Amino acid sequence: MAVQDLDRLLRDAGGVQGQRVFVRADLNAPIRDGAVSDDTRLRASLPTVRRLRDAGARVVLASHLGRPKGQRKPEFSLRPVAERLAELLGAPVGFADDCVGAGAERAAASLSDGDVLLLENLRFHPGEEANDPDFARALARVADVYVNDAFGTAHRAHASTVGIVACARRAVAGDLLRSELAHLSVVLDPKRPLLCLLGGAKVSDKLAVLEALAARADALAIGGAMAYTFLRAQGEPTGASRVEADRVEDARRVLALTQSSKLRILLPKDHVVAERAEAGAPTRVVERIPDGWVGVDIGPETAAAYAHAAREAGTVFWNGPMGIFEIEAFAHGTEAMARALADAPGVSVVGGGDSIAAVNRLGLGDHITHLSTGGGASLEYVQGRVLPGVAALEQPA
Ligand code: 3PG
Repeated sequence: MAVQDLDRLLRDAGGVQGQRVFVRADLNAPIRDGAVSDDTRLRASLPTVRRLRDAGARVVLASHLGRPKGQRKPEFSLRPVAERLAELLGAPVGFADDCVGAGAERAAASLSDGDVLLLENLRFHPGEEANDPDFARALARVADVYVNDAFGTAHRAHASTVGIVACARRAVAGDLLRSELAHLSVVLDPKRPLLCLLGGAKVSDKLAVLEALAARADALAIGGAMAYTFLRAQGEPTGASRVEADRVEDARRVLALTQSSKLRILLPKDHVVAERAEAGAPTRVVERIPDGWVGVDIGPETAAAYAHAAREAGTVFWNGPMGIFEIEAFAHGTEAMARALADAPGVSVVGGGDSIAAVNRLGLGDHITHLSTGGGASLEYVQGRVLPGVAALEQPA
C-alpha cells in the first residue's frame, strides 16, 4: 500500500492550477489575549501552502483548535490563526465563519488562483470528531482535491482526517505529513543504541508508550512526576511527591523488563524538591526525598547522567518534561535535556509541547534532527501503531 504525495499531485496531468484544494492542517496553536502565542505549527504548515499557491491552486485550509466539543465557542475561533498565517505568508488569508454550508462553499468558490482561505474550527460541529459521513461529505463539497498535512491530528479518526477521503476525487499527503513520517520512522528502525527519554506527570498516560519503547530501546530514561511512581515501585522514599498509587504495579512490571532483556532503565539519582509545588517555594537538591517535600525536577547529577546517555546514543527520542516546566525554577532539568539533545552526535527526535518549548526557548531548534509537530500523534507512531489519518490515504501501489 502506498500514500500519494504532493509531488505526484502537482506532476500529474493538469496539476492543480485553478482547482480548489482542501488542506487539512493542524493549526491547533495556543492563543493568548486573542493572538497566536506560539506559531510553530503554523510555520510548519507553510511549505505545503506555498507549493500549492505557486502551482496556481486555490487553497482552502481547515483545522481544529482546542476541544470545543462540538459547540461554537468564540474562544476557540481560528480567526487569530488566519491573521498570523497572513503575516507569515506575506499574503492575505481569507476567513470563513463556518467550515461547511453555503457560506463556506461561496467563499471557496470566489477564490482566485493562489488565494488562501481558512475555514472556521472543524470541531464546532459534533460531526467532525464523530467522523460523521454527512459532515465529511459537506466538507468535501468545499473543494475539489484533498491534501492531509495534519500530522498532529493523524492519530484521530475524524471526518476531516478519515471520512473525507472517501468523498474526495483525489486525496494525497502534504509535505509536513510526509516529512514527519520519514523522520519519526528513524525511531522505529534506529541507529543504535536507541535512548528514549520520557517525562511527564502520569505513568497512566504513558504506560503504553513506555512498554512499547521498552521493547525497542536499548535504554529508557525516565523523568517528570512519572519517575516518583517508579521510585515508589523500587521502595525508595518519595515524600509528598505526586505518586500514582494504582500504577506502582505497572511501574514494577516495566522495571522487571530489564531482567529479561538488555534494556537499561535510568531513574533519577537526585532531585530538586520544594516545600510546595509553587513558584517561590524553598527548594533543595537531595538524593533521597525527605518527608513532606515534593519532587519538582530531576537533580543536576541525574541531568548529567541522562546527557551522558544521550551523547553515547545513536538515536535519542525525547518526549515530556523532566519537572514542573511551567515554573522557571523547576525547568532546569528539562532545559538540560534540550541542551543534551542539541549536543548529541547521533540522531535526535523531539515530540511534545513542553519538550519542544524548552528547545525553542533556548534557541536550539536548528541543532535537533527533527522537532515533531505532533504530541500524541508522534507517541502513537513511535509505538508502531497505525495512524488512522495515514491509513485512510493508503491505496494499492
Ligand atoms: C494536538 O495538539 O496534539 C493535536 O492538535 C490533537 O489535538 P487533540 O488531542 O485535541 O485531538
